[in-house]
Amino acid sequence: MRRREFLYNGLAGACTLAFPKGSARKATSSVDSRIEILIGESLGTISPDIYGHFTENLGGVVYDGIWVGENSKVPNINGIRMKLIEEMRKIKAPVVRYPGGCFADSYDWRDGIGPADKRPRRTNFWSDGEESGAPTSHKYDPNQFGTNEFVHFCKLIEAQPYLAANVRSLSAGEFYRWVEYCNSPARATTLADMRAAAGYVEPFNVRFWGVGNESWGCGGDFTPQQYAIEFRRFTTWVPHYGQRLSFVASGPNVDDWNWTRGFFEEILRKGRSPLRSIYGIALHHYAWNLSRGRTQDWVQGKGDALKFDAVEWYELLREGERMESLINGHWHIMGEVDPSHAVKLIVDEWGPWYRPGSEVTPGDQLEQLPTLRDAVFSGMTLDIFNRHPEKVAMANCAQLINCLNSLYLAHEDRFCVTPVGHVFAMYAPHQGGQAVRTMFSAPTISYDRDGKPAAFWGLQGSASLHDKDLVLTVVNPAIHDPREAEIVIRDARIKVVVGTTLTHPDIHAHNTFEQKEEVSPQTKPLPVSSGTLTHTFPPASVSSLVLTLA
Ligand code: AHR
Repeated sequence: MRRREFLYNGLAGACTLAFPKGSARKATSSVDSRIEILIGESLGTISPDIYGHFTENLGGVVYDGIWVGENSKVPNINGIRMKLIEEMRKIKAPVVRYPGGCFADSYDWRDGIGPADKRPRRTNFWSDGEESGAPTSHKYDPNQFGTNEFVHFCKLIEAQPYLAANVRSLSAGEFYRWVEYCNSPARATTLADMRAAAGYVEPFNVRFWGVGNESWGCGGDFTPQQYAIEFRRFTTWVPHYGQRLSFVASGPNVDDWNWTRGFFEEILRKGRSPLRSIYGIALHHYAWNLSRGRTQDWVQGKGDALKFDAVEWYELLREGERMESLINGHWHIMGEVDPSHAVKLIVDEWGPWYRPGSEVTPGDQLEQLPTLRDAVFSGMTLDIFNRHPEKVAMANCAQLINCLNSLYLAHEDRFCVTPVGHVFAMYAPHQGGQAVRTMFSAPTISYDRDGKPAAFWGLQGSASLHDKDLVLTVVNPAIHDPREAEIVIRDARIKVVVGTTLTHPDIHAHNTFEQKEEVSPQTKPLPVSSGTLTHTFPPASVSSLVLTLA
């Protein structure tokens, strides 16, 4: 089965997992690596929005994850889980995408406004994949969480809303009306009055609008040329109400170069002016195929979230690091028609995707339990985005809570931060900094991949400058070997360093409602000697160092 078939047919099922023990690690090392940071060589400003999130009305993401309702015993602010708000404030969440994903192209925004008790119940896009025992709200959308509640959630966490419009099953006119509902001035239109009746007199001023989602598949099964025509129609003469509108086009699935090329060729058929209205094109890449080339089947190719060996650890990272060549490849094609690169890349879905079976809340569709492997994967991915600040304007991890690469897990009054959530906290200081060229040299990891020698890089990361502070994040993917690195800042001396490390002796380690702190970051000052720093990066770790420069 291919991914697009999966998205039509849905997928359900669970399996019981054994839990393998961690591997022994080497305890000692000596300097074997070097990180050289060229603070004079800026790569561009790191858009805070690459630390963005994705929330789809799918499984336990919205109902239970975000929305508990005003009358819930779970502490909440206006129905939104309070603990989630607190955690998202800590990581400086910049932007949140909603309501999908595939759900978006089946969603009528009008169902989610007006008095809560008058809102209709609708069949959720994902209902066919729900198990029989799943909560009713997962199958039949009660619409208690709609545009008002989502925008309010964003306001509470001080993030920008990023709404995905329905291109497959609603008209362009309905899209304009959604913009009008959100952005028309107080008392100016009937929709502004409806917004005011819900308690929101002032406009929401939503800037980011996705025009469909995965329009090559669940979002309408268009060819890139057909979709480009839809995109032009949807985005021509949308009223602005004084708000800059940043439209995001549905982009390629992984390495579908033809989608990117076909879309831009058709967009430009009538002239170059449409380029001005495209803020970005959305690339999606999930690391799901751990079969090492044995199959391309969407179900058979998946690995297990918890039960994996060393080869599968590296395999996931290999799949994930494709992100860098995908960014470079699509950027190159975009440059053929848009040499000044007015249009940016938006990676609005990324993360690992495993087979079912590790759900902390049975029945939560597409929920999986993130481990240390996913933390290393996420650090690696965020470093890739940091290294391409001129190309990637926004990225949204799939998904925020109770789904795929979750930062948080929640069920009723239980809540925990996953190792992925900790990585987002550790990387938050990069936001808005000047990415600077950084060179890593470290011994390559060699391992046996099904009888053939395979290799993976030894250390990678990214660095950003914030006045006198330098933020350096580093991933050591080696399961067994620490890396002791000399860290050299060209043209500056190091005064003070504070280091935070996320690791665990067991590569399968993860957090649960019962053991919330099993994988948690450790922060301490690091010794600086004569303005230089030597630091040991433990095996299977993500590190964040904040260096104050002289
Ligand atoms: O994140 C889950 C699904 O993956 C999204 O709904 C869809 O866009 C993608 O295929």
